[in-house]
Amino acid sequence: MRLSNRLSTIQSIAEHAHKQYNYDYIWDTCCDHGQLGAGLLKSGISSKLFFVDIVPELMASLEQNLNQFFLNQKHQWQVLCEDVYCLPLNDVENSNGKHLIIIAGVGGDLMLEFISQLNQRFPDLSLDFLLCPVHHQFSLRSQLRKMEFSLRHEEVLEDNQRFYEALLVTSDSTNQSPLISVAGEVLWQYKTASEQNMLKRYLSKTLEHYKRMQKGNSKLADSALVAYESVKIEKASLQFTSK
Ligand SMILES: C[S@@+](CC[C@H](N)C(=O)[O-])C[C@H]1O[C@@H](n2cnc3c(N)ncnc32)[C@H](O)[C@@H]1O
Repeated sequence: MRLSNRLSTIQSIAEHAHKQYNYDYIWDTCCDHGQLGAGLLKSGISSKLFFVDIVPELMASLEQNLNQFFLNQKHQWQVLCEDVYCLPLNDVENSNGKHLIIIAGVGGDLMLEFISQLNQRFPDLSLDFLLCPVHHQFSLRSQLRKMEFSLRHEEVLEDNQRFYEALLVTSDSTNQSPLISVAGEVLWQYKTASEQNMLKRYLSKTLEHYKRMQKGNSKLADSALVAYESVKIEKASLQFTSK
C-alpha cells in the first residue's frame, strides 16, 4: 500500500536518523494499521521493529498481515497489544540498546503524557522520540523544552490540506544538539520555493489560530503569539534532511 505523504515523510526521517544513530529497537506506537513500521521493514532497516497499539482486534489483524508479507523477517518484528504508558523497553535482548520511539497520529498532549511516563519509568535510558502530533504542537514543544529535550531534526509537512510538524527529539543530555525551541527554528527554513510557500501558509494559519484563542483570554495563546510573531522564514543552510 502506498503511504500518505505524512507517513512516508516520517518513515524517511526514521531511516535517516537510523543511519546516524543506529537504533537497535524502533517502536511504532499507536500504530493502528502498522503501515509505518511495515514501510520500515520493507525498506530493509536493520533495527528490530515493535508494533504497539491498545486495540486487540487491530493488533490481531496486523499480525496476520505481517505474517503474510514479512514472514521471512519474522525474527525482526513483534506485535504488542499494549498501552504506550507500559512499553516494555527493559524487556529486550540488549539492555544497552538504542531505542527510537515513534508516536504519530495522536494529539501533542497525549504524547507528552506518554513521554513523561516513559522518562520516569526509564530514567537511565536515553530515548529518541520521533513525534508527529495532530495538534497541540506548541504546548508539546514548550513542555519538552522544560524537560530539557534536545532537537535532532524538525520539519513541517503538508498532507491532505493539513499541516503537521515532525520532530525528532532526544532525552540524551550528553548529545551536542540544541534544546528544542518553542516555535521551531530549522523548522522555518526552506530549500525550494514551494517549501517557502508552504511555510508561509503554515505560519499564517498558526498565527490566526492563536489570535482566535487569545480572544478567549488564553495565556498559552499569549505566549504562543509572542513566539510565532518572531519567527523568520529563511533559506536553509546545510542540515540534516529527510528528503
Ligand atoms: C489515528 S491512529 C494513528 C495511526 C498511525 N500512527 C498514524 O499516524 O497514521 C491512533 C491510534 O492510537 C492508538 N492509541 C490511543 N491511545 C493509545 C495508548 N494509550 N496506547 C496504545 N495505543 C493507543 C489507537 O488505538 C489508534 O489506533
